[in-house]
Amino acid sequence: MSARHFLSLLDLPSEALENLLVRAIELKKRLKAGQTHAPLSHKTLAMIFDKSSTRTRVSFEAGMIQLGGQALFLSPRDTQFGRGEPIEDSARVLSRMVDAVMIRTYEHDNVTKFAEHSSVPVINGLTDLYHPCQLLADMQTWLEHRGSIRGATVAWVGDGNNMCHSYINAARQFDFRLNIACPEQYSPKTAVLKPAGERIRLVRDAAAAVEQADLVVTDVWASMGQEQEADERLGVFKAYQVNESLMKLASKDALFMHCLPAHRDEEVTEGVLNGPQSVVWDEAENRLHAQKALLELLMS
Ligand code: CP
Ligand code: NVA
Repeated sequence: MSARHFLSLLDLPSEALENLLVRAIELKKRLKAGQTHAPLSHKTLAMIFDKSSTRTRVSFEAGMIQLGGQALFLSPRDTQFGRGEPIEDSARVLSRMVDAVMIRTYEHDNVTKFAEHSSVPVINGLTDLYHPCQLLADMQTWLEHRGSIRGATVAWVGDGNNMCHSYINAARQFDFRLNIACPEQYSPKTAVLKPAGERIRLVRDAAAAVEQADLVVTDVWASMGQEQEADERLGVFKAYQVNESLMKLASKDALFMHCLPAHRDEEVTEGVLNGPQSVVWDEAENRLHAQKALLELLMS
């Protein structure tokens, strides 16, 4: 199938990603100036959510409306996806009816399989492996606050999860250094880590990762689908909390990001989350603008 998909940050060349961020900032300005911009008039985005969402759902839905189109929310509870209709069949059928499909699910392979059988663009709205749309918003937020991220040092503190994997891909695409601090058994996957080469430094000590970092990022210790491990993880990750004393080790003007939802006093303290270095609310807002730029790129 010839449609252009966005299943990971590696699906677009670096230059296209950079242009997308510039476009996102432009679309944000236009929206705030009250200008109408409807290049996706009469176009439809289907959104399949196997996991919960606030930001992803609302940003895609509002984004499609603002661009002149419509979004359909599909949950496994009341569609045939939840009753075992093969992914290939769902992909063939949906792509004959809509202009793009966004999927949030567990196994990344299922999104890949869907994309293989879809004649319209497929967007990864989070899998167990990656969360590329969040990285568009994070990179836009950095660009707005600090300019180019090339050569900067980012510290990832916590679980080597889907967000961490997307940060590794971002380090490759946007050319920054990434220090990852996580417990050994929660390290990112080698298959994701290895191609990123020497840009990535994997350590066990949060302080060592954060020292002189320009951006500190964390995420929940138990992701969706890992609820039954939450108690055990609380103990293992204790030393990986991003708090005021950890932030003091970062560079003086370091920023703090978190994809949200945040668990206060677990992976981050209230003081950091709402402190002067935090840009989490801009980051959340930018999901809307960055994804509008993505929809425009893939659908128009
Ligand atoms: N950050 C993020 O993807 O949030 P939601 O789970 O609310 O979509
Ligand atoms: N790592 C988290 C991100 C939520 C937006 C999860 O997968 O649940």
